[in-house]
Amino acid sequence: MMFEDAPECGRDDNFKKVLELMYSRIREDRKFVILETGTAFDTCKSAWYNDGYSTRIFGWFAQKYNGILYTIDNNPQHIETGKKITEKYKSCINYITGDSTKTLHNISVLVDLMYFDSAMNPDLALEECKIIYPMFHKNTVVLFDDTYGVHKNKGKGYKAIKYMLEQSKWEIERLPVNQAMLYQN
Ligand SMILES: C[S@@+](CC[C@H](N)C(=O)[O-])C[C@H]1O[C@@H](n2cnc3c(N)ncnc32)[C@H](O)[C@@H]1O
Repeated sequence: MMFEDAPECGRDDNFKKVLELMYSRIREDRKFVILETGTAFDTCKSAWYNDGYSTRIFGWFAQKYNGILYTIDNNPQHIETGKKITEKYKSCINYITGDSTKTLHNISVLVDLMYFDSAMNPDLALEECKIIYPMFHKNTVVLFDDTYGVHKNKGKGYKAIKYMLEQSKWEIERLPVNQAMLYQN
């Protein structure tokens, strides 16, 4: 049972799905890498449940299954709260404070799971995607938050997904709560 002692979070069916898929696709003898833009920061339960608390489940997974999580946020207070939320898993987490469009340039490792969850701005997600795309490989799994439904044509993944499809053939799966998962066959 891969997730039996996973910490509570929102959107967890989706997070478990991408983590399981990513883990099944690891081919190399190295620590897997999860990278997210947008750190979990809200300690009010209704808010964090809606946001997801991605950093907590990703950090837990990295610790349990021998990986590393990079989490990027441009708000230093959010990083500080994120550190408290993920205290138990901190040995497996790199907390990076700064604008994603600057700090992503410093990521020079292959990315196995990418979660785009910074501002609700398709142009920002597109820019992030263009920077980090060279670090993707054929088994990378990508998740975008807030892409479908009410967010259609202005959601986070709207432009970045188009860009990814121009680069290569990606399968796209629409997940509950308007998230989009992409992977290559
Ligand atoms: C929706 S929240 C992240 C939620 C978190 N992934 C979770 O599941 O709980 C979005 C975060 O993106 C951060 N953010 C917004 N614009 C950013 C940028 N340009 N670079 C880095 N972080 C950014 C915000 O400070 C905020 O903390």
